[in-house]
Amino acid sequence: MKKYIIYSLLIISLLFLVTGCGKKESNSETDKKANDILNSTPSNETNSNNKILIVYFSRTGENYNVGNVDVGNTAIMASYIKEYLNADSFEIVPTNPYPNSYDECLKVATKERNEKARPAIKNKIDNISSYDTIFLGYPIWWGDMPMIVYTFMEEYDLSGKTIIPFNTHEGSGSSGTYNSIKAKLSNSNVNTNGLALTGQKARTDNGKTDTINWLKELGY
Ligand SMILES: Cc1cc2nc3c(=O)[nH]c(=O)nc-3n(C[C@H](O)[C@H](O)[C@H](O)COP(=O)(O)O)c2cc1C
Repeated sequence: MKKYIIYSLLIISLLFLVTGCGKKESNSETDKKANDILNSTPSNETNSNNKILIVYFSRTGENYNVGNVDVGNTAIMASYIKEYLNADSFEIVPTNPYPNSYDECLKVATKERNEKARPAIKNKIDNISSYDTIFLGYPIWWGDMPMIVYTFMEEYDLSGKTIIPFNTHEGSGSSGTYNSIKAKLSNSNVNTNGLALTGQKARTDNGKTDTINWLKELGY
């Protein structure tokens, strides 16, 4: 009987480690690594891609399929691009933060989409003219880009620049957004061979490999 109880406890502990506890730990490790990369500034000597800027919008908090995250799925993808290209990055930070609760965020996003809102961006890029290529990353929200990405595209003069989109989603792929960007930024050179990863995959080594292979295909 004693043996049976010990075995049961062992199995329960292992299950806990493999499921809930394990997941949380790997999420926070992924988040920390991505955060370190995104917060780093490439030094001038090593920044050979100093004309490339990675601009991304990504939400933290309760997220579909991946639990509670400190760094959003698209931000994780942005960190792979930043690390590989050793380029600068800029996070689009909303003046009014989106709710942590997934359901509440859906409500806010629905309202913004219905109203074709242009949510304000809290931070600024001072030297956008010094970049000639912009990687633009976002999650799919209701089959489109979050409205704040439209704010970004309208706030800056992106004419003459190469724009390379990438995104995360949970089933919709790129949802036609690369062509929407092309239509919107008719004076830019928009590369519609973007990369769409599911949010869950973006957080894994396979997601990183896919991102790097895509960059190689683009010629980087
Ligand atoms: C408001 C909202 C709307 C969403 N709409 C879609 C959608 O239409 N199609 C889809 O595949 N995923 C949708 N998602 C899932 C996100 O695209 C997916 O979880 C993404 O990886 C989140 O990226 P982030 O962590 O960078 O914010 C939606 C998520 C939110 C919060």
